[in-house]
Amino acid sequence: MKQFSLIKDLRKELSKERKKGKTIGFVPTMGALHEGHLSLLNRSKAENDITVCSIFVNPVQFNNKNDLELYPRNLAQDLKILEKTGCDLTFAPEVIEMYPEGLPDHFTIDFGYLERTLEGKFRQGHFKGVAIVVKKLLDIVEPHKAYFGKKDYQQLLIIRQLAARLQLPVEIIACETMREPDGLAMSSRNLRLTIGERKIAPVIYEVLSYVKDNSGIMSVKKLKNWAIKKIQKNPGLIVEYFEIADNETLLPIVKWDQKEKAIACTSIYLGDVRLIDNIELFS
Ligand code: PAF
Repeated sequence: MKQFSLIKDLRKELSKERKKGKTIGFVPTMGALHEGHLSLLNRSKAENDITVCSIFVNPVQFNNKNDLELYPRNLAQDLKILEKTGCDLTFAPEVIEMYPEGLPDHFTIDFGYLERTLEGKFRQGHFKGVAIVVKKLLDIVEPHKAYFGKKDYQQLLIIRQLAARLQLPVEIIACETMREPDGLAMSSRNLRLTIGERKIAPVIYEVLSYVKDNSGIMSVKKLKNWAIKKIQKNPGLIVEYFEIADNETLLPIVKWDQKEKAIACTSIYLGDVRLIDNIELFS
């Protein structure tokens, strides 16, 4: 596995591979790798000649300084995992390498409602930050395919729109959410849960599954209210949002007549840790 931290070195290496006619798959990450990331890497390995994984905790997408500081980082451990998984190239730049002119605060594309609803409402500027770094990484790596998990569903929609509107020559591949045996969606943030919190956390998926099973049976309003109450019955769990929305526009759904396109999305605080999850309904 070849490791890079400088853009020019990675570009040089990738251009050699491209000249040999190799296809390139790309898995962008912020490190603290778990099985979810490995499933993206394995898919990329199966579909491309070369797999590149980036590890970069992007300060521009954090609207909360504390969250950025507490974000789990363990580069040495991540590199070991990547080596074992058979990743070909890694890219772990410093902040100054990615943003030599200081942290950018604007992005050319306005994603409209998509960037302002759900996550966008509670993490102002978050998706601009994601778009800035993903565009930059795609420009550096120039992959044929790039892999993103459905756990960050709204991020996936934003990145799809980014690629479409800028006509980027990359295929965006959506991968299923990986879950722990008890249903908790895999996330780097799970590492910050205490033992007690970790025991409570599976209720999120239990509730999402119930919502899926009862979609089209209970009214949207009743189901949403039930879900919020059920989650908040557990001490330490506070629902930031729980929405049933169109799976392309994320506009709220009020009746089940658009049911084939519905997704339930939620953000929940468990103590200090903010967890997000979603479930596609009727799928
Ligand atoms: O999903 C993530 O880990 C990040 O948002 C991403 C896509 C790597 C951009 O920093």
